[in-house]
Amino acid sequence: MLQPSESHPAAGERRLTMEKVNPTPAGKKLAHPSEHAPRIFADTATITEIRPLKEAGIVNGVTTNPSLLKRAGADSWASANRIMKEIVEYMAPMPVSLELTELQPEKMVEQAKRLAGIGPNVVVKVPIGGYKAIDKSLDAHTGLKVLHRLWENDIRTNATLIFNSTQAFWAANAGASYVSPFLGRVADYLYKHDHPERTPGNSLYFIDDHKVPGNGLDKVANTAYVATAGARKDAGVRLIHEIVAVFNAYRIRTEVLAASFRNAVQVTECLLAGADILTVPAPILMGVADHPLSDEGMQAFVADSKVFDK
Ligand code: E4P
Repeated sequence: MLQPSESHPAAGERRLTMEKVNPTPAGKKLAHPSEHAPRIFADTATITEIRPLKEAGIVNGVTTNPSLLKRAGADSWASANRIMKEIVEYMAPMPVSLELTELQPEKMVEQAKRLAGIGPNVVVKVPIGGYKAIDKSLDAHTGLKVLHRLWENDIRTNATLIFNSTQAFWAANAGASYVSPFLGRVADYLYKHDHPERTPGNSLYFIDDHKVPGNGLDKVANTAYVATAGARKDAGVRLIHEIVAVFNAYRIRTEVLAASFRNAVQVTECLLAGADILTVPAPILMGVADHPLSDEGMQAFVADSKVFDK
């Protein structure tokens, strides 16, 4: 767990150099209190999940990928294109990341131009690596080359599948607007290998080892964990912290988009780590206003207010 004292002092200053997330409209007396806040994106391609989050004013963008499009029901290019267009139009002018699927640089640039043509708020997602794992004849630097070509073409990009801070640094140098480190997958991988007895997919660390499964304590663990500033065990959060520290130190304006969340505790940790953007699955975002003590407190306030009706 990152402790608040470890948050990089330059983080707030660097955010001031970024675009305002919550600009105050001209003529409005009450300035928005959180103009340079970190941005929250919905990590989903399902429009019915996006709508309530946008209506609640808690998302500033969307990230998609081919797996999320498939989960949203896309089963052909026609349906995938329809879903992407609908999200881009619904979210405008907020950014929506759409991922490249071509593997050859020329075709990737063509596809990127097509995707960017859907709307000015499109950000093209470019996998940083993995090309040789698909086909040994492909160039290992394909992702970086395409990021650079797209920067030359004034197309905003999101370098995806980032798993270490050097990948993030090279992507920024190639011209990426965002880098997406996948913190949850780092956790899953480490647990799979180091702690096969633990359930993967929930966290990089146990929220509290004394938790009795099913007793509901996991719901209060966020606050409890932050309050106790538990020991740092989370390699995914450390990855975010490292990238933010490098970008802060050199005033790199590429935004650090923390991705692959598994729980709400990681949201708090990424805010402490200084992430610029957090892309979070809808089920986690739907629960952000929930807390058992909020339930208890609300029940008491409503019950006590009934006395005034007499
Ligand atoms: C976001 O941009 C990523 O595609 C996404 O967060 C990956 O998450 P996953 O590890 O849950 O698939």
